[in-house]
Amino acid sequence: MAEEKKTKEEVKEEKTEEVKEEEIEETPLEKYKKAGEVAKSILQHLKGMAKPGIKALDLCETADKMIADAGMKPAFPLNVAINNHAAHYTSPWEDELVLKKGDVVKIDCGVQYDGFIADTALTVAFDDVHNDLIKASKEATETAVKVIRAGGYTGKLGDLIENIIEGYGFTTVKDLSGHLLLPYRVHGPKSIPNVAGRKGNLILQDEVYAIETFASTGSGESHQDRTKLYIVRLADGRFPLRTDSAKQVRRLLEREYHRLPVATRWIYKALGPAKAKMGIRELSNVGALYQYHVLSDTSEALISQHEHTVYMTPEGPIQTT
Ligand code: CO
Repeated sequence: MAEEKKTKEEVKEEKTEEVKEEEIEETPLEKYKKAGEVAKSILQHLKGMAKPGIKALDLCETADKMIADAGMKPAFPLNVAINNHAAHYTSPWEDELVLKKGDVVKIDCGVQYDGFIADTALTVAFDDVHNDLIKASKEATETAVKVIRAGGYTGKLGDLIENIIEGYGFTTVKDLSGHLLLPYRVHGPKSIPNVAGRKGNLILQDEVYAIETFASTGSGESHQDRTKLYIVRLADGRFPLRTDSAKQVRRLLEREYHRLPVATRWIYKALGPAKAKMGIRELSNVGALYQYHVLSDTSEALISQHEHTVYMTPEGPIQTT
């Protein structure tokens, strides 16, 4: 079809639009991609750094520094989940935990650029006996990343994921799932189950998902370790606070981290250990903090994890990490 001849006004209008376009800031997809590039390069760097004898704290602080150097912010603290730990371990203040030869180490990195989040994870081990365990979650995630489509249901991915992981002779970690990413929100109201037989949620265009799968040599059940709390975030709602320490912690979290998960060690570093400890305790007591306790399978279990972030376009998924 022939193009209609343009009037002088239309040509003029187009020109002003062109100028405007140059001033328009990056699209969400471009920001998701930039955050993804940073998260990906950090993960590759940490993969090379993770060796027996290395401190978990060194991995965490390296991630913190690389995110800051890239001019971005963490979407959540680096998770270093060793062996039967499934999630929510980040080094506490002055952590002495050291990686050992037989360890299976999951490294999960979250970066945000103006609230647009990249969430990606991989597993490192130092003994070839763990190769299949690592391959199982890697293959499950990579397959799901390829087949996820707008218009489909997340439950279908659960069927696929469980099938692959059980095919290797492992179990999936049932309580953990992939999740919708929203601006400044790591866990949106839709999830991608890691087990078969669920309907799940309808996947829409322009949505962004973190697909993360886990393979366990244990039961696949996970429990919260109430003694290990290294990640928190501000809860919604207003809570009257008594002490200056608690008010300072709240102010710090509001100013720097929105409602995103925060490492307690960051609070210790910013306010000093005494104030941080007191403040966190009061905020926890009044319900002002959402608490991410360390999640573990039974003590002898070993777990691997693999995760990527995908942006849903009409043509299919774009992996940003
Ligand atoms: Co995730």
